[in-house]
Amino acid sequence: MARKDPHSHADSDQPRARHLRLLLRVDFAARRIEGEAALELAAPAEGVLDLDSKALEVLEVSTGSGASVPFQVGPDEKVLGSRLRLSLPAGTREVRLRYRTSPDAPALQWLSPEQTEGGRHPFLFSQCQPIHARSLVPLQDTARHRLTYEAEVEVPEPLGAVMSAGPAGEGPGSRPGTRVFRFRMPQPIPPYLLALAVGRLESRELGPRSRVFAEPETVEKAAHEFAETEAMIARAEDLFGPYDWDRYDMLVLPPSFPYGGMENPRMTFLTPTLLAGDRSLVDVVVHELAHSWTGNLVTNADMEHFWLNEGFTVWAERRLVEALHGEEATVLAWAIGERALEESMERFGAGSPLTRLRTELAGTDPDDAFSSVPYEKGARFVTLLERTAGRQRFDRFMRDYMARFRFTSITTEEFLAFLESELPGLASQVGASEWLYEPGLPSNAPVFRSPRLDGLVAMAQSFARGERPANSATAAWSPSETLVYLQGLPREIEREGCAWLDAALALTGRGNHEILVEWLTLAAGSDYEPAFARLREVLLRVGRMKYLRPLYAAMGRHPRTRALAREVFAEAAPRYHSLSRRVAASVIEKYDDAPAS
Ligand code: BES
Ligand code: ZN
Repeated sequence: MARKDPHSHADSDQPRARHLRLLLRVDFAARRIEGEAALELAAPAEGVLDLDSKALEVLEVSTGSGASVPFQVGPDEKVLGSRLRLSLPAGTREVRLRYRTSPDAPALQWLSPEQTEGGRHPFLFSQCQPIHARSLVPLQDTARHRLTYEAEVEVPEPLGAVMSAGPAGEGPGSRPGTRVFRFRMPQPIPPYLLALAVGRLESRELGPRSRVFAEPETVEKAAHEFAETEAMIARAEDLFGPYDWDRYDMLVLPPSFPYGGMENPRMTFLTPTLLAGDRSLVDVVVHELAHSWTGNLVTNADMEHFWLNEGFTVWAERRLVEALHGEEATVLAWAIGERALEESMERFGAGSPLTRLRTELAGTDPDDAFSSVPYEKGARFVTLLERTAGRQRFDRFMRDYMARFRFTSITTEEFLAFLESELPGLASQVGASEWLYEPGLPSNAPVFRSPRLDGLVAMAQSFARGERPANSATAAWSPSETLVYLQGLPREIEREGCAWLDAALALTGRGNHEILVEWLTLAAGSDYEPAFARLREVLLRVGRMKYLRPLYAAMGRHPRTRALAREVFAEAAPRYHSLSRRVAASVIEKYDDAPAS
């Protein structure tokens, strides 16, 4: 038995599926998908084949030629789900599974019409990373295996469907009032990049190879926000070589989407909180686009090597931001990232094994291990390599790395071996083993500074002494400068201080959610009542975990905000994504006055 991925029942000694054919019927009333999955094997096989499944009802399994395949559903393990053990007759080339998803499949969020912008039609979206694909399709749910796929999705009219794949036509469905959308994904992807969304969708062309999809009510705003997409793709190609996925389209989801963005190939999923109106939050698009190389072409073997996906992508993101918006903007981005890193280190404790880059996660739910560490510590490690090798040599290394490992999934150790072969001695020179295998942030971490950044930090620090920046200064601040200033302020500010900030920086009315949430976090932690209405509104509407965690945490400081948090959570919880609900609940459970459990 060779089970290498701690989060999968897949056994590397068993046959592999390399192509998936999917037939999905989306039933909004039952909140289920009726599915047929055909797994085409790499070679004719016989004997045991273990698949992953979670909250799936498997109805029937047969071979491609119609012979019945005995199967056994194992116990429901909390993190992994159930092992689905098939006994393949000799010469099996293809396995067909008929199944149904459960209304609480962790990969899926089913939205009622009230949870959408339009308010008239339901919406469905998937989030398969890290290990939720198994609740959408029974398969070998490990990033070590890649598959190509094709799919037919039947949805009620007038809804549309998109997937992480190229469109391959549409037509009337098998039942009245339905329509079928077909997709084809010719490039092999890890299962966590399977993605599906169904809703009332429209799209706008952004450039020769990209469009943005959204509900009709938001599509114009989205098209304006993401108008620079082609320029981003072109810059990314300068850095990493040709874009290999044909099109780069995006979908703006309803606000309960639990992440900022998800790099589903050919169809990045995005939170609508990016629609600030002034293109100030496009870093997230740059990030998801960069995953087209780091993550989607070269993929982490499993979640213990997640930093290979996110650390390299944040590094790439900052290189692209530098090319697109200049060095000053990039220094601010690093400073904002540093705050996130400090917060994660504090939350886990600096000695925690979860602050290592290469982690050990057997028995740990990867959603619980999620933090800024693989992102920001990872990106600092890559930058250290870049600075030590020199940019030119390192950029050449990155191109070779991408060429060597494209369409494969690798471990930290494979990366290290390749680094050693291409740039001998560099790993030991920078202390790579401390960076990768030890907790905390090593003392040779690169520093990112500029006079502008130093000025903002000093100004924020002088706030407690009663100093206030002049109107003429704040009026000229970019959104990132405003954010850096806010992040440098004390975590608790008296009433006049809050009132001054809100008036001088027009905070409560901001459309930029990074600034808005930073402000509301400050206001909540300061028990500043005039901001409560907006706070409540954001918590009821937005499910992005990055925002819920600090907001609910700050509300734990005062009795009045604790009561507000509990009241708002009770109302919002049924509408949150299951991941968001879990994050918010875990924060509220830790309030000082929480009844001991
Ligand atoms: N792939 C991640 C999102 C993710 C990670 C989903 C792990 C599930 C498990 C995506 O690329 C991401 O990092 N999104 C960030 C964007 C940011 C770093 C610019 C987010 O959602 O905030
Ligand atoms: Zn990412």
